[in-house]
Amino acid sequence: MNAMTQANLQSAFGGESQAHMRYRIWGDAAKKEGFENVKRLFDCTSAAEEVHARLHFKALKDVHGDFAVTSMAGFGIGNTSENLQAGINGEEFEYTQMYPAYICVAEAQGEKEAVKAMNYAIEAEKVHAKRYQEAKDHVDKGEDLPAEDILLCPVCGYITFDKTEEECPICHTKAKAFIAY
Ligand SMILES: [Fe+2]
Ligand SMILES: [Fe+2]
Repeated sequence: MNAMTQANLQSAFGGESQAHMRYRIWGDAAKKEGFENVKRLFDCTSAAEEVHARLHFKALKDVHGDFAVTSMAGFGIGNTSENLQAGINGEEFEYTQMYPAYICVAEAQGEKEAVKAMNYAIEAEKVHAKRYQEAKDHVDKGEDLPAEDILLCPVCGYITFDKTEEECPICHTKAKAFIAY
């Protein structure tokens, strides 16, 4: 694998792995505040970031050995409104700064599996930011997210609250494969 795509994928793996854990922790905080559905959304999004981390790890399958990995890592536990805003900021960084640049490099280097993994991630992150904004709008009014259905596409990390969707708009996986949170 070309060195620059390798470094970018390793960084993205680090960022996604940490987002996976950070959202679990913020989910616990949401539950403590009584926002059960926001907790479900954090858990679902955490699982989506695991999907991305796994895709990146698999794209790096021929890279062996130990590497120091540099990636953005948000810290701090605020209240649920603040945690959702931090989540939105992180997702926005990923889809406006990080992945567009990484995808450009991977395309220039002909790294097809890396391009596919990062295209799934960038499209899913846009949706994650929207879902978090929806949750924050309710939390800021003192109410829980009203979502009955919180569904994850296990192939690309897309999330929907709409159980009538027939397939994932990003990767076209059939909705019967979606995982409910
Ligand atoms: Fe995300
Ligand atoms: Fe998908």
